[in-house]
Amino acid sequence: MMTARKLVMLAAVLLLAGAVWGYWSDRDMASGENTAQTGMDHAGMEGQMGGAALPREMTSTFMAGVADGAAIVTPRLPATLSEAAQSGKQVFDAKCAVCHGTDAAGKKGNGPPLVHKIYEPSHHGDYAVQLAVVQGVRAHHWPFGDMAPVPGVTTAQVEQIVAYLREMQRANGIR
Ligand code: HEC
Repeated sequence: MMTARKLVMLAAVLLLAGAVWGYWSDRDMASGENTAQTGMDHAGMEGQMGGAALPREMTSTFMAGVADGAAIVTPRLPATLSEAAQSGKQVFDAKCAVCHGTDAAGKKGNGPPLVHKIYEPSHHGDYAVQLAVVQGVRAHHWPFGDMAPVPGVTTAQVEQIVAYLREMQRANGIR
């Protein structure tokens, strides 16, 4: 029979295991050097797991072949954008593209591509985009430093940006 004490221990062990797993999976995503050395990246892992195969450049933060200031990924453009996404693109181009690049393809040295597996809805939900704009972002995935808050963009405009980014992501198999 399980005592209450054993149950508490078991819960603690499970929590710890979850934390360790979370740490390693995040670390794996963030570390370009690691994936380069092992030759194993998320595209490879996903291929094995039967998910949609994404180009390696959209799953890895490894950028050795990219010149400073150049786009980091080459997104496919959706055939059409919804009305909200079209408005979102306009705001994005005016306020975000200077760092995140045209078509959210990233700009090496300035900001990451947002058409990237890291920013899939389950890992960076719509609320993360609102927060990023209002509070800025501590660098944690890329070597480009922190993002400062972007003033002068309303909540409604960020919703449009989100619509734009999600449609761009879906056109590139990121969902
Ligand atoms: C001055 C450069 C700059 C501008 C302008 C900028 N960003 Fe960023 N942004 C960054 C950098 C750098 C990061 C990456 C931080 C990291 O290493 O994870 C980032 C990260 C993000 C993230 C990821 C947030 C997270 O939780 O990890 C989102 C979403 C984002 N930016 C949205 C936007 C939007 C929307 C705009 C325009 C309204 C914008 N950014 C403008 C530089 C910028």
